[in-house]
Amino acid sequence: MAPLSLFLFTLLLISSNTIATQDMEQQELLGLSEVMGSLLNDPDWPQAHPFPCSDTPWPGVKCEIGLSPPFFHVTKIHIGPDILDPPCKISANLSHSLLKLPYLKSLSIFNCFTSSSVSLFPALFDSLLYLEHLSLQSNPSLSGEIPSSLGNAASLRVLSLSQNSLNGVIPLSIGGLVCLEQLDLSYNKLSGEVPQSVGGLKSLSILDLSWNALEGELTSSLGQLQLLQKIDLSSNQLRGKIPLTLGMLHRLVLLDLSHNFINGPIPKSFEGLKNLEYLILDHNPLNSVVPLFIESLEKLKSISLSECRIEGSIPMSLSSLKTLTALSLSHNNLSGRIPKELGKLPNLDLLNLSHNQLSGEVYFTNGFVKKLGKRLDLRGNYGVCWNNNMSVVDSDDETPYCLNSNGGTRNESEEDSKKIQPAWNQWEDDHSSTSTRSNHPSWDKNLLLSFCAFVVEVVLCSCLLL
Ligand SMILES: *[C@@H]1O[C@H](CO)[C@@H](O)[C@H](O)[C@H]1NC(C)=O
Ligand SMILES: *[C@@H]1O[C@H](CO)[C@@H](O)[C@H](O)[C@H]1NC(C)=O
Ligand SMILES: *[C@@H]1O[C@H](CO)[C@@H](O)[C@H](O)[C@H]1NC(C)=O
Ligand SMILES: *[C@@H]1O[C@H](CO)[C@@H](O)[C@H](O)[C@H]1NC(C)=O
Ligand SMILES: *[C@@H]1O[C@H](CO)[C@@H](O)[C@H](O)[C@H]1NC(C)=O
Repeated sequence: MAPLSLFLFTLLLISSNTIATQDMEQQELLGLSEVMGSLLNDPDWPQAHPFPCSDTPWPGVKCEIGLSPPFFHVTKIHIGPDILDPPCKISANLSHSLLKLPYLKSLSIFNCFTSSSVSLFPALFDSLLYLEHLSLQSNPSLSGEIPSSLGNAASLRVLSLSQNSLNGVIPLSIGGLVCLEQLDLSYNKLSGEVPQSVGGLKSLSILDLSWNALEGELTSSLGQLQLLQKIDLSSNQLRGKIPLTLGMLHRLVLLDLSHNFINGPIPKSFEGLKNLEYLILDHNPLNSVVPLFIESLEKLKSISLSECRIEGSIPMSLSSLKTLTALSLSHNNLSGRIPKELGKLPNLDLLNLSHNQLSGEVYFTNGFVKKLGKRLDLRGNYGVCWNNNMSVVDSDDETPYCLNSNGGTRNESEEDSKKIQPAWNQWEDDHSSTSTRSNHPSWDKNLLLSFCAFVVEVVLCSCLLL
């Protein structure tokens, strides 16, 4: 019995050894060594990882086994903040040897190219037929243009090149990426227009081109992207009108076009954005009004239209948006009254109406005013005053109490002449902090008491004399 088991054990050992030496094609192993050599600050990486797919793995490299022959292939390379040992070298570069890893599905490199100038080379997109996920993020020295060969990477599902220094235009060929679900080119120096060809990105659900230098009008082809849930084109130099076709994006949850030069009005077709939760358009010359149809967007959580040159009044219909948590309309030209119904929105937690030409009394409940605190901003509306039985007002708020009000208690002349008692109470409340809020003459209480005593004495004396 014993000799047999010994024999089996030896056989296993030998066979596992055989797999280990032959588990990868020589060319792929060499390619991986070169890629790692061009990235990492460890010349000994290849020696330390002779079998990177089996016996000597490294956390940033993943492999999958092929069918015939049953060799391992490198399918994923990841360099990022979760894998810091060894770190990237100062001269880190995106090596052409990546092309020796034809089975690569996912390549992600974060915060690695920081000093020596690195660029995307065209063959990267032509040759990696299985590449689904490419994230090269936060690499300040990754610069140059996005090659137009990008359109050949037909398997791409996620492309994130945000926070690099890429310049030039977005290549027209991008429209060929029919499997692309997420496109994030934010925080670069891209210029030119958003190409009309983006209409070809039929699978796209997230589009983020924010913080670039994109210009021109927004392409109406965006309306073809029926799966879009998020559009962020903020902080560019886009101008012209908002395309009507955006109203066809029934799945859209977030639309951020803030900080551009886009003109209004907000098209009526936006009635169709039934899933919209975030409408962020601040800092655009909309030169328009708050559209009445906005009440039909029942899922809205946040409306931000600050600094949009909006005029007219605040539509009362906004108060039918029960899910609303934030409403910012500051720095516009809004006039008229503040609808008190806004204060009844159950979820509202930020109301910024500052710097408009609103007027009239504010009738919010104390509970609402207390809940919002500093997130209720009515500053810079010189015609607005607090309804006078409002007792909790943030100390930063410049809004005065209303002077002429029915149902109030604060009639200065009345208080001064007839209601000296309440004035004393106030004086006592505010004793420690010399109150500037009250206009009442600051009687010295003791002086007043002695004066009364004097009057009583005089009266008593007169009686006695009589
Ligand atoms: C970086 O790699 C590319 C492509 O392999 C090469 O053309 C370029 O010269 C390299 N740059 C440096 C600084 O090594
Ligand atoms: C508001 O409207 C007035 C008159 O219509 C105009 O003079 C003023 O410039 C406008 N203010 C803003 C911030 O648009
Ligand atoms: C103002 O005071 C009256 C009577 O004290 C009260 O019924 C009313 O609810 C108050 N209004 C507000 C807006 O607090
Ligand atoms: C209201 O918006 C202005 C800018 O439009 C901003 O400066 C201010 O801080 C905002 N107020 C609050 C409470 O967020
Ligand atoms: C304030 O009180 C004076 C004197 O009682 C009265 O004549 C005046 O109508 C009052 N003003 C208001 C707005 O109630």
